Amino acid sequence: MISEFPHLIDLDDHPVSWWNGLLRQAQDILRDPALYANSCRGKIMGTLFYEPSTRTQMSFQTAMLRLGGTIIGFDNPQTSSVAKGENLKDTTKIVSGYSDVLVIRHPVPGAAKAAALTADCPVINAGDGGHLHPTQTLTDLLTLKCEKGTLSGLTIGLCGDLLNGRTVHSLCKAMSKYPDNRFIFISTRELAMPSYIKDVVRAHGCTFEETESLEDALPKLDMLYMTRIQRERFPSEEAYLAQKDTYILTTKKMKLARPDMIVMHPLPRVDEIEVAVDDDPRAMYFKQARYGMYVRMSLILTMLQSTAKTELLRGHVHSGIVCRDPRCITHKETYLPRSFTGTGTTLTCEYCDERLLLEH
Ligand code: NCD
Repeated sequence: MISEFPHLIDLDDHPVSWWNGLLRQAQDILRDPALYANSCRGKIMGTLFYEPSTRTQMSFQTAMLRLGGTIIGFDNPQTSSVAKGENLKDTTKIVSGYSDVLVIRHPVPGAAKAAALTADCPVINAGDGGHLHPTQTLTDLLTLKCEKGTLSGLTIGLCGDLLNGRTVHSLCKAMSKYPDNRFIFISTRELAMPSYIKDVVRAHGCTFEETESLEDALPKLDMLYMTRIQRERFPSEEAYLAQKDTYILTTKKMKLARPDMIVMHPLPRVDEIEVAVDDDPRAMYFKQARYGMYVRMSLILTMLQSTAKTELLRGHVHSGIVCRDPRCITHKETYLPRSFTGTGTTLTCEYCDERLLLEH
C-alpha cells in the first residue's frame, strides 16, 4: 500500500542520502536559526502523545514554533475522545484533517504505521512501544556528526535495556548502514538485543559482540550509549526489580574510557548515570537533547516540502494469521489488514517486525 504522503515510521522508509540531507540541513539551521524563522508560517503540527514524554514532545513543539508554525494536540489521551473509546483510526483521521503534519507517540508497537495508513497528512513516529524511535536516532546521528565528526568507523557500546529500548533498536539499524561501525551490546542475558536487530547488523556486514561487563567494554569505545531499564514494558514489578541498577556509570568507571569517548543517553536518566558524571566533558547527553530540536526543525521542514510517497505495506495480507506478539497493534485495532512480508514458512509482521514461523 503506497501512501501519497512522505511519512517517517522507520528510517528505512527513506534512503541514507535522505538522512544525510536532513542532517546537513540541521547543521545549516544550527549555524543560523534566524534564516529559518518563517519557513513554516501558516502551517500546523498536530501532536498525539498517548505516552509520557518531555524531550520528544517539547523539542517537536519548539521546533515548529521556531520555524514560525503553530501546534495543536494532546499529551494525555484521557482528556481527549480516546477516553470515550475512540479508536486510533478515527482520532488520526480527524486530527490529520486539521494538521499539515502529525507527530504520534504510542505505547503499542506498530501504532505509528497504523496511524499513517489512514492519515490525511504526513505522520512522524515519535516512538511506538518498545519498537522504534526514528527521530531519536536522527538526534543521535546529528550529535555524532557534530561531536565525533563522522558516522563511520566507530565502535559503539550500547548498555542497559537492549530488549525493550526502542532508541537502541533504531540507532543500531541506522548505524549499521554506515561503513565500518562495530557494536558492543552490554546487557544482562534477559535484556539482550532482539535477534531481528542482530540480523540487520549482520546483513550490513557490521560486527558486534555481546558482554555483560561495562568495565570490559569501556576502554574500546568511541561512544557509549546508556539507556534506562524500561520499567513500563516489564510484565511484572518483580521482573523489573531483578534488572534495576545492574549498570551504573560512575566517575570511577569513566576513568577506564578513552579521553575522546563520548557518553550519550536518550534521557530520561533514572539512576544509570551517576549525577557527578555530568561534569565530565565527555558527557554529551544534555547537548544531545538540544541537537534533537534542530534535527526536528529540519525534519518538519523536509516533511512539509517533500512530495515523496511512502510505501507503508509491502507484503501480503493473510487474514487467517495473527501476529505472535500479543502487544502488536493488530491485536488492539482489529480492523487493520494483517499484512506480512516474507514467503514460505517465515513471515514478518509489517507493524511490529515480529517474526512468525509457520508449521506445515
Ligand atoms: C526515550 C524514549 O521515549 O524511548 N526517550 C526519549 O524519547 N528521549 C528513552 C526512554 O524513555 O528511556
